Amino acid sequence: MAKSDVYLVTGGAGFVGSHLIDRLLELNLGHVILLDSFNDYYSPIIKQRNVALLEDRYPTHVFDGNFIAIQGSINDEELLRMIFTKYKITHIVHLAALAGVRSSTSQIGKYMEINYSGTQLLLDLAASQKVKQFIFASTSSVYGQTDKLPFVETDSCAQPLSPYAATKRAAEILAHVYHNMNELNITILRLFNVYGPRGRPDMMPFKLMRACIDPTCTIDVFDDGEIKRDWTYIDDVIDAFINALEQQYGYEIINIGCGNPIKLSTFIEHIEHLSGKHISK
Ligand SMILES: NC(=O)c1ccc[n+]([C@@H]2O[C@H](COP(=O)([O-])OP(=O)(O)OC[C@H]3O[C@@H](n4cnc5c(N)ncnc54)[C@H](O)[C@@H]3O)[C@@H](O)[C@H]2O)c1
Repeated sequence: MAKSDVYLVTGGAGFVGSHLIDRLLELNLGHVILLDSFNDYYSPIIKQRNVALLEDRYPTHVFDGNFIAIQGSINDEELLRMIFTKYKITHIVHLAALAGVRSSTSQIGKYMEINYSGTQLLLDLAASQKVKQFIFASTSSVYGQTDKLPFVETDSCAQPLSPYAATKRAAEILAHVYHNMNELNITILRLFNVYGPRGRPDMMPFKLMRACIDPTCTIDVFDDGEIKRDWTYIDDVIDAFINALEQQYGYEIINIGCGNPIKLSTFIEHIEHLSGKHISK
């Protein structure tokens, strides 16, 4: 990676995106362009705070024009063209998405538009501008119904169980077409559940902590808390993105997880122990 590189981080105001930009600016790797629609899937105020934190932490980068935050959608083709022409993007980290599994069941069209069609627009521009690297944030949800455990990247992932997973898998497959037609370097990182500071309010760690301080918040414990999830700390996830940016694999899919799934009931016990509070179920 060279100092003249220009990184476009879509979804940069969100949880993972704001941490990635923090690291890119800290390492002083090049110019960083944040593109985010600040949608209301969860409070846009949280996203504005994430960006304000970056601007406070890196005032010189802002002053020098090395960090630019743009509010807009990856579905706005004209805006994308303007960004690519003006900033000569060399690397794309594509995180912008609707990311909720449950909410995807009632908004399939919206998920298709952003997670699939939006990704296609970016791939198109990435190919025509011959960017060096395109990193796409996918999800462990693509494994869906499979008997191949632990999840392995060579699984066909042909039986996703939610619209969210289906749109991400479809985008992964489309990315392969762009790699094949244009020799675009594409690395797909399949994230497992990510946790850490500035975590998403719709995810379990945040919900549990809220339930500790607000007894009116209850937690739905399905399956007697036996359900297991693999949790990955945000800094480790960001290490994976930085490593992926340094390599050009052609087309590669990589699982990014901890490899140590824990039961929901155990997770709740830990949070109760650490907070000294009881969580209402
Ligand atoms: N956090 C996790 O545990 C996890 C797990 C698996 C995969 N992922 C994937 O990682 C990526 C980042 O997830 P996150 O947890 O940071 O989610 P997030 O919701 O915090 O961030 C996504 C960002 O994308 C923005 N966005 C949505 N639609 C957009 C559009 N049309 N144009 C521009 N911006 C748009 C949102 O405003 C938001 O800030 C997503 O693609 C998600 O599917 C996350």
